[in-house]
Amino acid sequence: MDLLEYQARDLFEQFGVPVLPGRTATTPDEARTAYAELGSDLVVIKAQVRTGGRGKAGGVKLARGEEAVVKTAAEILDLEIKGHKVETVMISPGADIAEEFYFSILLDRASGGYLAMVSTEGGVDIETLAEERPEALLKVGLDPVDGITDAVGRKIVEEAGFMPDDHAAVIDVLKKLWTVFRESDATLVEVNPLVRTGSGQIIALDGKVTLDENADFRHEEWESYTETSGAVDLERQARELDLNYVKLDGTVGIIGNGAGLVMSTLDVVAAAGEDLPGTPKPANFLDIGGGASATVMANGLRIIMSDPQVKSVFVNVFGGITACSDVANGIVHALEMLGDEARLPIVVRLDGNSVEVGKAILAEANHPLITVKNTMDEAARAAARLASEGN
Ligand SMILES: Nc1ncnc2c1ncn2[C@@H]1O[C@H](COP(=O)(O)OP(=O)(O)O)[C@@H](O)[C@H]1O
Ligand SMILES: [Mg+2]
Repeated sequence: MDLLEYQARDLFEQFGVPVLPGRTATTPDEARTAYAELGSDLVVIKAQVRTGGRGKAGGVKLARGEEAVVKTAAEILDLEIKGHKVETVMISPGADIAEEFYFSILLDRASGGYLAMVSTEGGVDIETLAEERPEALLKVGLDPVDGITDAVGRKIVEEAGFMPDDHAAVIDVLKKLWTVFRESDATLVEVNPLVRTGSGQIIALDGKVTLDENADFRHEEWESYTETSGAVDLERQARELDLNYVKLDGTVGIIGNGAGLVMSTLDVVAAAGEDLPGTPKPANFLDIGGGASATVMANGLRIIMSDPQVKSVFVNVFGGITACSDVANGIVHALEMLGDEARLPIVVRLDGNSVEVGKAILAEANHPLITVKNTMDEAARAAARLASEGN
């Protein structure tokens, strides 16, 4: 579960990480109030969406004076950034930035441990830096029990090349960020940029936090997070229906049986969408597993179709224990159950056990939303094209 920046800011503050004040607003009028409360002439207005690169997309803007703040807030609240509609902005005082750094702590699945990543060339796109100048990105493995101690902090600031004058303050912030990471059961805590201001203060200016949902049983305080995001909301609804669903960023809804088949379906759809207008991509991962009953299919279709980003759906099923005929009946009954809720074109590819019977059932149903394709590639292309046209 990814937190929005203002939620990360609040979390940092609780653990003593130096942050700027921040007020959220969902309307230009609330932005006016927030601006008055902050009492700073120059402020930054930041789109609260779960995607990076907001700055480049026009979602982070400085403004001075009430009129400009209200106008800028209205503009940002109107934006959609990489498919994420901006519903909230955070307003913070404008910082006097002398230097920007990058810092993160993450669960590194490759080494099976925790990793701190640091660069004194922050503010930039970290993926680009990692690719073009890997030597400018310091990686330090962390002991999962000790994390960032004074000694580890010292090693990091020295190896990363922070100025000696900044060492004490930076080490203090890194230790606190480790505490945030550990106490919050996070898999990622990223600060980009961590800055030094003109007056020499070290401040976390942007925060990204991913929480490990497997730990939600010991974090009652996480409940406040779930209501605020469409994506998390969909994932929670899906979990309640026992569906193995992960929300992604694209516009082609995916339903398949078996994690391997669904993973390859995501790849095939992404490839099929590459050269199409709007480059449609998979909107989700959804594995309906073995027994694809009508109810499971209907639940899956309902979750996918309640994602406002989705423009088409691709049902890719390989009949095994559950025969294609059962799946076909499942789809037809699911559409009956959904009625008007079923609003999007569905491309179906069936193969395996009882495929001919399955296809005959779909042909007979002759549902206006359903298109049947014979191969996975054809079906992926059709679904991607429908999503591209639907935009
Ligand atoms: N409070 C602030 N005052 C001045 N500049 C800011 C402030 N917050 C962010 N910025 C600038 O905007 C850039 C982008 O903001 P950031 O919060 O990192 O969003 P994103 O990473 O999504 O683009 C930062 O690198 C920084 O230069
Ligand atoms: Mg940033």
